[in-house]
Amino acid sequence: MSTPVPIPRRKVTVSVDGAERSAAEGSTILDVCRDAGVEVPTICWAPTITPVNACRVCVVELEGSRTLVPACSRPVTEGMEIRTGGDRVRASRRMVLELLASSVDLSRAEADILRWLEEYGTDPERHGADRARVSEPVRRHDELYVRDYDRCVLCYKCVDACGTEAQYTFAIAVAGRGFDARISTEYDVELPESACVYCGNCIGVCPTGALIFTREFDLRESGRFDPEDQAVTTTVCPYCGVGCNLELHTQDGEIFRVTSPDDHEVTSGHLCIKGRFGYEYAGGRRRERLPEGGSEAGRDAGPPA
Ligand code: SF4
Ligand code: SF4
Ligand code: FES
Repeated sequence: MSTPVPIPRRKVTVSVDGAERSAAEGSTILDVCRDAGVEVPTICWAPTITPVNACRVCVVELEGSRTLVPACSRPVTEGMEIRTGGDRVRASRRMVLELLASSVDLSRAEADILRWLEEYGTDPERHGADRARVSEPVRRHDELYVRDYDRCVLCYKCVDACGTEAQYTFAIAVAGRGFDARISTEYDVELPESACVYCGNCIGVCPTGALIFTREFDLRESGRFDPEDQAVTTTVCPYCGVGCNLELHTQDGEIFRVTSPDDHEVTSGHLCIKGRFGYEYAGGRRRERLPEGGSEAGRDAGPPA
């Protein structure tokens, strides 16, 4: 069997904050900035999903362009002069971050987002206590995952992961317009009645905690969520022969979240329901649920067939 050889790509030369850089044609401004060690914040971008330009927090200045351009989706071309740190860029990013934080609860967002809120000097409170806020009930229907759309920034990543970027199930989409726009199942039916197959790929890409494992949600709500006391163990999913890598996030010996590495050649970060949620047998809950005097046979026998 022959090894596939990547097609060589032409190189282009651009400048990032005055420093000349060489980049493969077809790379994005974000790629080049990251290669140059220049941080550009992103929310709606993900390595495994085609950018949809939903958040605009990644904007940079481009010589000759009247408007700021989104770094995550704009391909580089020969001679581009990119500036990432000017007042205009910082003001725009601060505005995006601040408006998001003023309308939804970002307290459980990814660590980078929380850091950018600080670094860009956002002050959501200055928009007043009576500002419009997203107000959605927590949707909890089972022991798998919770939807807490008070935290949703409408980045579209879950919709894309459920659709053509990974799962091809199309169980969710954006409904409504303007401030009332929200993520919804078809006809807004409850999740168990929808087309959802519980792969959890939407949770895997959600940057804000709006989609969250039920067990993690419970830990956070009870105030017991403690990153200092957590570990991540990489293993191989035991359910079939595909060989998906799993990252088991644990606290107190209990799995509260399962992910897969974005750069894993089989999963690209996506899993099926068994890999994502089929870990009951490994934890204490099954033991807790054994009926009094019930059989313990098979307790350590591994996953069900
Ligand atoms: S769990 Fe899977 S099928 Fe269900 S909404 Fe999320 S991505 Fe779609
Ligand atoms: S639920 Fe999460 S992934 Fe989906 S649009 Fe909202 S913030 Fe993005
Ligand atoms: S990260 Fe580029 S538009 Fe959202």
